[in-house]
Amino acid sequence: MAYEVLWISAKEIDQLGITMLEVMNAVETGFAAIGRGEGEMPAKIGIHSREDCFIHAMPCYLGGDIDRAGVKCVSGYPPNPAKGHPYITGIMLLNDPDTGIPVAVMDAAWVTAWRTGAASGVYARHFGNPDTTSVTIVGTGVQGRVNLLAMMEAFPKLNKVRCFDIFESSIEKFITDMQPQLPEATFVTCTDLETAVRDADVLITCTPIVETPERSIPQSWVKEDCLVIAVDYDSAIHEDIFKDANFTCDNRNQYVWTQEQGTYFQNGYPLPADINADMGEICAGIKQGVREGKRGAVLMGIASHDIMTASLIYDRATTAGLGTKVEL
Ligand SMILES: NC(=O)c1ccc[n+]([C@@H]2O[C@H](COP(=O)([O-])OP(=O)(O)OC[C@H]3O[C@@H](n4cnc5c(N)ncnc54)[C@H](O)[C@@H]3O)[C@@H](O)[C@H]2O)c1
Repeated sequence: MAYEVLWISAKEIDQLGITMLEVMNAVETGFAAIGRGEGEMPAKIGIHSREDCFIHAMPCYLGGDIDRAGVKCVSGYPPNPAKGHPYITGIMLLNDPDTGIPVAVMDAAWVTAWRTGAASGVYARHFGNPDTTSVTIVGTGVQGRVNLLAMMEAFPKLNKVRCFDIFESSIEKFITDMQPQLPEATFVTCTDLETAVRDADVLITCTPIVETPERSIPQSWVKEDCLVIAVDYDSAIHEDIFKDANFTCDNRNQYVWTQEQGTYFQNGYPLPADINADMGEICAGIKQGVREGKRGAVLMGIASHDIMTASLIYDRATTAGLGTKVEL
């Protein structure tokens, strides 16, 4: 017996017009399900065929009313852009939770980009000051862009964006792409990291994840009540920033498991006892976010985001008649 899988390309996903707000709501629903214990989500596992490169496998089942299952295979290869390839590539598979039979395969780069920005937006929803007007983006690549889109949702009064990247051309392109999305805002090109970070109300770091991190942003540069979001594991944020802070991770199990492997979150990063909450607990209403004081998050990216975002894409593509049916 032959089965059909719906193949959904990156171009087709773009045509669906899915908004950041929709992805944030989906990601928040997934967080809450995990927080209530209504799912199965082992920490992501990976292989590393080159230094600082990864191929991760991220399976997840979300139960309850959601009842969706699947797995993402995603690669991150920092040398790729110099070769003309994207840094992040991959495929996302959705399975029928009753039979396990694959129902859809789609581009995982879009899923990864948007759900990651959305997760920052959900954290900002629960921990940010809604009156925030300025944000600093360090690393103005794909994540810089989607994180800014999410901050626009979380902070409607946003009117200033400070940008830093090791390549000024990257900042210029970022501003060209993003200014039309936020026409009233002032975009500031910062030529040094310290200028970008000082006085930031919200700081988001989106630099490459590396095995030997520089953690070049120290506590002394950061305002006491700055909301700090590390999208790039422990690459950019010095451990002092999270010391005595209200520290949140996206998923306690995955953070602790990754720390135990001995590569990331070593040398002074929060230990299991230092985690105030994970985002599952926050979104399920088991714990409350705080909106002032020293606070920050490490958002590593979890598989529930992928399942929720891919399900949104699959449902929308099915309704729109987009995608190609491929026989297995
Ligand atoms: N947490 C998650 O869920 C998640 C998901 C996707 C990507 N990521 C991570 O986010 C990071 C960014 O991914 P991306 O897709 O935006 O990559 P990208 O290549 O599109 O952008 C990275 C940007 O960082 C800049 N950069 C490099 N080193 C820098 C430094 N020291 N200081 C400032 N800028 C620097 C680069 O010039 C580039 O513009 C990567 O570490 C990636 O692994 C995390």
